[in-house]
Amino acid sequence: MTTSSFDKYLMADHRACDQQLGALRKQAGAGDWAAARSSSQALQHDVLAHFAAEEDVLFPAFEASTGMRGGPTQVMRMEHEEARLLLEDLLAAVFGQDADGVRGHGEALLILLQQHNMKEENILYPTALAYAGSSAPELTAQIIQRREAV
Ligand SMILES: [Fe+2]
Ligand SMILES: [Fe+2]
Repeated sequence: MTTSSFDKYLMADHRACDQQLGALRKQAGAGDWAAARSSSQALQHDVLAHFAAEEDVLFPAFEASTGMRGGPTQVMRMEHEEARLLLEDLLAAVFGQDADGVRGHGEALLILLQQHNMKEENILYPTALAYAGSSAPELTAQIIQRREAV
């Protein structure tokens, strides 16, 4: 991905994960379990890597530059934890070929991520970008490196 700053990069990543989740739900709905298994593993990898880039790089930078340690980033970390648990439930349902489970956990994960991503995109990313100032390119490079680490 070639983007100018981390907010655009992470927003594009949100969209890509939404699309992966959508594809997975369709595949499971159609009973294509081989495709659904592979999609679910790709989704889990990408969501966990996205969370790692935020938790290991972006949130510490946000906390250091704004001085806010117990606020927005703490809420975001808690929501990541909820999403990790839902992802595990979703993968268990996919590997168990449990169509109802995939529907339920997939819907719950979709709603959680939509609300979470909206808060990041509307509040946390713009604030982090404003506080980063001239160090934004360096922060962007570190975020991309963490996101794309295997
Ligand atoms: Fe996040
Ligand atoms: Fe995010």
